Amino acid sequence: MEHFELNGGNRLKGAVQISGAKNAALPILAACILCEDEVTLHNVPDLADIRSMINLLNRLGVKSQRRDDGAIQLRVVDEMNCHAEYELVSKMRASVCVMGPLVAKRKRAQVAMPGGCAIGFRPVNLHLQGLEALGAESELTGGDMMLRAKKLKGTEMFLGGAFGSSVTGTANVVMAAVLAEGRTVIESAACEPEVTDLADFLNACGARITGHGTPRITIDGVAALKGCEHHVIADRIEAGTFAIAAAITNGELELRGARIEHLIAAIDCLRRVGVIIERGEKGISVSSTRRLEPVSITTQPYPGFPTDLQAQATALLCLADGNSIITEKVFPDRFLHIAELNRMGAQLRREGGTVIVHGVKKLVGAPVMASDLRASAALILAGLIAKGQSRISRAYHIDRGYERIEDKLSAVGADIRRVGE
Ligand code: UD1
Repeated sequence: MEHFELNGGNRLKGAVQISGAKNAALPILAACILCEDEVTLHNVPDLADIRSMINLLNRLGVKSQRRDDGAIQLRVVDEMNCHAEYELVSKMRASVCVMGPLVAKRKRAQVAMPGGCAIGFRPVNLHLQGLEALGAESELTGGDMMLRAKKLKGTEMFLGGAFGSSVTGTANVVMAAVLAEGRTVIESAACEPEVTDLADFLNACGARITGHGTPRITIDGVAALKGCEHHVIADRIEAGTFAIAAAITNGELELRGARIEHLIAAIDCLRRVGVIIERGEKGISVSSTRRLEPVSITTQPYPGFPTDLQAQATALLCLADGNSIITEKVFPDRFLHIAELNRMGAQLRREGGTVIVHGVKKLVGAPVMASDLRASAALILAGLIAKGQSRISRAYHIDRGYERIEDKLSAVGADIRRVGE
């Protein structure tokens, strides 16, 4: 198993190219199941999760090829298999995104029910509720969700749950509704840019979707989708992570390709902390030369502060001049990074869904263990500024969502290397 070794203290300076968004690319890849013709996708990051999705699609009869220029070409060649097996779904939860496309296009889907996850309980009731509202019948057999539908029919539905909207739940229902008969209106739809990118992709294939990016999405069903060429949006979570890397090291980074409008809440928070963020010619420029102010953060669905940046923001606030409060409202158990950051000298205390951060003067390097994707990003950020060496085990967690993170960080001055065991 590989790990990262970091020697903290270097000020980061330079430009970082932000990769394509993993969470936009995953449902868009799944949506290729719906298309009659070839699809060409640009800016799909080369990540473990993307490779898992492509592997699943290959098993589901989608032929794919990554070209030398990085673009991926996909085409459905066989529609027989409709089974997303537990082995793949348990590795990557976003595999459930094939459920909507399979039931809409092939009239049946057998998708393993995702199990537990390091960031807490993650049900799929909203996915099923939405697909059932369109006319699919579902039952649970041997741990698999079995869905069947002779015909899907558009309807009005409310898709809000106990924790608000669901990103992949909305994606699944939109992907099914594009081929349903008549009009579907989803109320309390997720507004995340990744859902908007999916809808833009589907519209380019001939779907008729409006209202994406708002809580009410309207879909007028069409008979078939063709292929298209699509450029996936930049990864706002990777951009936010590098913005925090600049802030935590008192550095200066240009985040090429990043879009300010996708990061409004995170940027507002960073500015209150004292970080300088400006729109640059090629993206966003981030610099920090002053002390860090403590702030309160509450994670929320988009456009609120993203839960996927909560752990990284916690790492930053460890070094603020005072006490900060972080409340997690999307995944209230997403706090596995707390104990590890405390091993590095942080003073964090969890109370239910809230963490009280008592700012400290410095963090110190230590061996720590990555537990999930964003928690490992937080540990790397802490390691960038910690005094001495940090060793972050289980590098595979970070590889799920960050493309060559050690190369990108070293290129702007970090002392980080990947070590095999
Ligand atoms: C997506 C992102 C993930 C991010 C999350 C929240 C992908 C591949 N992953 O995950 O990185 O952290 O959005 O921004 O895009 N819920 C229900 N019932 C459901 C589905 C969800 O109650 O059927 C709850 C969840 O437990 C959670 C909240 O709704 O509390 C939001 O989850 P959701 O938006 O569905 O997350 P994902 O789409 O799985």
